[in-house]
Amino acid sequence: MLNFVHDIPTRYYFGEGQISNLAGELSRFGKNVLLTYGGGSVKRSGLYDTIMDILNGHDFKVTELNGIDPNPRITSVREGVRLCKENGVDVILAVGGGSTIDCSKAIACGFYWEGDDLWDMIRNPGRNMKALPLVDILTLSATGSEFDPFGVISNMETNEKLGVPLCYPSVSICDPTYTFSVPAYHTAAGSADIMSHIIEGYFSRTDDSDLADGMCETILKSVMKNCPVALKDPSNYSARANLMHNSSIACSHITEYGKQGTMWPCHGMEHELSAFYDITHGVGLAILTPRWMRFILAKDPTVTGRFARFARNVIGLEGNDDAALAKEGIDALEAYFASTGIPMKLSELGIGEEHFSEMADHANKINHLELAYVPLTNEDIVEIFRASL
Ligand code: NZQ
Ligand code: ZN
Repeated sequence: MLNFVHDIPTRYYFGEGQISNLAGELSRFGKNVLLTYGGGSVKRSGLYDTIMDILNGHDFKVTELNGIDPNPRITSVREGVRLCKENGVDVILAVGGGSTIDCSKAIACGFYWEGDDLWDMIRNPGRNMKALPLVDILTLSATGSEFDPFGVISNMETNEKLGVPLCYPSVSICDPTYTFSVPAYHTAAGSADIMSHIIEGYFSRTDDSDLADGMCETILKSVMKNCPVALKDPSNYSARANLMHNSSIACSHITEYGKQGTMWPCHGMEHELSAFYDITHGVGLAILTPRWMRFILAKDPTVTGRFARFARNVIGLEGNDDAALAKEGIDALEAYFASTGIPMKLSELGIGEEHFSEMADHANKINHLELAYVPLTNEDIVEIFRASL
């Protein structure tokens, strides 16, 4: 088991009604708020009105940035920084999924960025960047942005989508009832993203970090149990609550403590697909993950034991033949993703081979997949993309 540091500064409110803490928490940072949100789901669900009642009732001054896209753009970050500077904003309140929270993290850091162009900040973020305080209200269980320091920002002009450490939220309010309105497609995609955050770290060369591995297996089983319930019964509190709790822990790296890093290869490959084709992150991951698994299992049989453990402890398969179990576990995972209604081929998303080589080159340059759990060359990545068509 390797050394690790636990240092997560986010104050995390979980459960129905926790919005009662909003005014008090915001007040710690000031009275001048930038309220950020996406394309309108917060208005349709009524959450926007609830929040405005609270803000108006406590004399906050509110500036709004709306229309933040899924796969949030650097253009929204630039606009948000401009609004913060012009209005003397004290604190950002982000209401939405990972896209809104990520964009808000970049705005929070961008406020203090001294360079000419905010895209340079995303390309080369500093360590421990100074940031405006960020409070968020989560509405979609998926990315874990509510409990991690990362932000993933896209530049559609350069076909780049980069995930970088920016800042932790100061406060996250996670009320599962706010996810009742998430449509089936995003429920399934978000759940696949949660699972991927676990899988990326579970398949590591360190075999003796028992607590981390046990948490990974529990979270994977919990998502596979609760996502189908939420799909059938979107207002099932228990299912939505478990997905939300899993979401926050899965990307926090707590489930990798004590383990050797893996470079998160599926995320590196998926971000290229999103950068070129603007696809839903979790869908890209569900498509790539079983293909990546089959590829590395064939390339490096030393990983067979870990795949057999996954098949036994997560999928619940039995048997003594590790090689057979390893393959059956991957097939079962793929069948599970398909059962949640996710498209399982890149061609279904209108993606062809034309950019594979460029994407593989970029994925490797940015993510150093030569250092992955099983090292991947550019040619390997192209092969995984092809197998996903
Ligand atoms: O924009 P609105 O109208 O709000 O609709 C959103 C959007 O269309 C909708 N939605 C969100 N909450 C809803 C809802 N619809 C109905 N009811 C609700 N309660 O869902 C759609 C997707 O939202 P988005 O925020 O884009 O989804 P997600 O949370 O999956 O975030 C995806 C982004 O996060 C990045 C991804 O790459 C992608 O850019 N990631 C961020 C990470 C991080 N910060 O640590 C790690 C992840 O691996 C990931 O890369
Ligand atoms: Zn992800």
